[in-house]
Amino acid sequence: MSQYYLEMIDVFKEFPGVKALKGVNLKVKKGEVHALIGENGAGKSTLMKILSGLYHSDGGKIRINGEDMTFQNPQDAINAGVATIYQELSLVPHLTAVQNVLLGHEIAKYKFIDGKREKEVAGKLLDYVSRGSLPSYSEPVMHFSVAQQQMVDIAKALSYNANIIIMDEPTDSLTDNEIEVLFEIIRKLKADGMTIIYISHRLEELMEICDRVTVMRDGEYIADADTKDIDKAWLIRNMIGREMTNSYPERKHYVSEEIVLDVKKLSSSAFTDVSFELKRGEILGFAGLVGSGRTEVMRVLFGVDKAESGEVILEGNPVNIHHPSSAVENGIGFATEDRKTEGLFLNLDIKTNISAAALPKVSKKGFISSGAETAAADKYISELRIVTPGNYQICKNLSGGNQQKVVLAKWLASDSKILILDEPTRGIDVGAKYEIYTLMDNLAQAGVSIIMVSSELPEVIGMSDRVVVMHEGRVTGILEREDFSEETIMTYASGHVN
Ligand SMILES: Nc1ncnc2c1ncn2[C@@H]1O[C@H](COP(=O)(O)OP(=O)(O)OP(=O)(O)O)[C@@H](O)[C@H]1O
Ligand SMILES: [Mg+2]
Repeated sequence: MSQYYLEMIDVFKEFPGVKALKGVNLKVKKGEVHALIGENGAGKSTLMKILSGLYHSDGGKIRINGEDMTFQNPQDAINAGVATIYQELSLVPHLTAVQNVLLGHEIAKYKFIDGKREKEVAGKLLDYVSRGSLPSYSEPVMHFSVAQQQMVDIAKALSYNANIIIMDEPTDSLTDNEIEVLFEIIRKLKADGMTIIYISHRLEELMEICDRVTVMRDGEYIADADTKDIDKAWLIRNMIGREMTNSYPERKHYVSEEIVLDVKKLSSSAFTDVSFELKRGEILGFAGLVGSGRTEVMRVLFGVDKAESGEVILEGNPVNIHHPSSAVENGIGFATEDRKTEGLFLNLDIKTNISAAALPKVSKKGFISSGAETAAADKYISELRIVTPGNYQICKNLSGGNQQKVVLAKWLASDSKILILDEPTRGIDVGAKYEIYTLMDNLAQAGVSIIMVSSELPEVIGMSDRVVVMHEGRVTGILEREDFSEETIMTYASGHVN
């Protein structure tokens, strides 16, 4: 009998124009937390969609506990004990926690739903996962935070007697505290014999929580190892196929004295008295905890939300930006953190998306020049290493990280004078991060001013000329380069300053 509980052997999958999996092997032991890593587009999610019965493979085997499996649909995989916690959570928003947990296998008595029994059964699972941290089991889950909804999703997986839980980038939109809570849940599940497959681009994090790791590159299996035997450099080397000596380009700092954006005592329902200056050629980091109001400030500057008071002065002139189109006319671009719902036209192709914010540049006398559109798209496909058969690919068909790259490319190509980038490298692999940083540095050199909202302190420190720190809707500090350190930023971010 094999020492492995789950084996995926020589798995193939092809999409039109894309060989996504070219004979991949994945071997997972019972009760381990197994990381699956690789660059954007390497095939991780595709492999997991085959394991969860969502896609059919074009060849290869799935073996669980020594038994060959064929999954015709997701139900077959669920019946075999495989559950998936998707990035886009699969809960029904207006149903309660209890109803969501038992959705599809409700408990009935004389053909009526047995509410009492359901509360007992689902309640036990919810207790096990949440340890009392959910506000209520009988409230619609749409009132819950992402982390709380994720707990309900895990309880739901357990209700199907899952033995294998797949988590595809589960910490993407969690705060540091919420990540710790998720890790406690994972440790408990593991102690109780659950097998977990964990996909993430956050390498430190997976070194902490995972026992073993399998690396994929370009649709192929590359290596596996116990995490205790390897380090971050090993992960990077195997992921990108070469050594990477620097995480950040050497920044030369091109800040001029010219103030392009002067924000004075700006307030809205989400923040109070926010003041800062942005200079020409500057990369201004915005640090703070999730919920500190950074994104809300950016939404006001871009005209998505309204300010209640305060002033915004653009190149010396007071402006009143109350719509994104007027922000764009004023040379302001905004790559949002939420690529799925706000950043992209998922049903349109890459080149249309990339040129969407750059119309003046690619259009001649009001007509879009398709040559310019194609050239811009191809430039960014190559510079950001967007994995795709061509610029005609529909964005829906791109991997998560490659969709994020298209959102960035769209704004990098836009000729904006001021670029607001909200969590620009979320979900992006380590190699492509470097390319994005390089592009940001080039833009700053060309005189573009960049505001970078980021929850990753090394990135804030590595890239910024100055850092604005926010806490509970207020600016608590503006730091110069010589004062940058994770400790200082965290002190201001947690509000522990006079
Ligand atoms: N439905 C689809 N149609 C066409 N191509 C697809 C489809 N789904 C995935 N692909 C392609 O298959 C390849 C692997 O994608 P996959 O989503 O598995 O990558 P990934 O490793 O999960 O990347 P990421 O880290 O960015 O999430 C990519 O080139 C992607 O564009
Ligand atoms: Mg993916």
